[in-house]
Amino acid sequence: GVTPKIAPSMLSSDFANLASEAQRMLDYGADWLHMDIMDGHFVPNLTIGTPVIESLRKHTKAYLDCHLMVTNPLDYVEPLGKAGASGFTFHVEASKDNWKELIQRIKSQGMEPGVALKPGTPIEDVYPLVEAENPVEMVLVMTVAPGFGGQKFMPEMMDKVRILRKKYPSLDIEVDGGLGPSTIDMAASAGANCIVAGSSVFGAPEPAQVISLLRNSVEK
Ligand code: DX5
Ligand code: ZN
Repeated sequence: GVTPKIAPSMLSSDFANLASEAQRMLDYGADWLHMDIMDGHFVPNLTIGTPVIESLRKHTKAYLDCHLMVTNPLDYVEPLGKAGASGFTFHVEASKDNWKELIQRIKSQGMEPGVALKPGTPIEDVYPLVEAENPVEMVLVMTVAPGFGGQKFMPEMMDKVRILRKKYPSLDIEVDGGLGPSTIDMAASAGANCIVAGSSVFGAPEPAQVISLLRNSVEK
């Protein structure tokens, strides 16, 4: 069944105190830690890479939900697997020719493969990856243009979530970008169960309350 996974985006954390920020989110009730890996090429921002995942892994057993906003995801599979990543979600726009090999290599590194799509990419583009003999285990529907935290949620992306949920009742569907107390009901009622939230969690006076509000919305 599809259970809620609340995944604070560590992009909104104090990177200089990453281990304690991660522990703080787990104490507040987070299920996963969402790690935004960017290469300054696929998106116009540069964040963290393999060495940071490796360092963080030494401080936590948590599920590290890695979102690869990179042009060549295949280059990161083995390094991230060895570093201790849990989920490896690549972009469909960056894997036109090699998604079968990507999925196979992600699984052989002991990670769970997911596929992400940008707001401008049609939902049909991910169907082959979900229906493959060796499929992805999650689809991440971007609800902002990837690259930065703190942007405005795009409600028109909920059509993609609804279509996916109808087609694949037990698929993990993640939404990422602009999620918080004022937008979660749209995403949850459309059928999303994995919820990434950066600024709304880290910016809240009581992040634990926001995390439980997000979870309750998915559960109802
Ligand atoms: C954007 C990242 C998101 C981002 C979300 O490219 O993929 O994970 O951190 O941040 P908020 O929740 O602030 O939109
Ligand atoms: Zn992300």
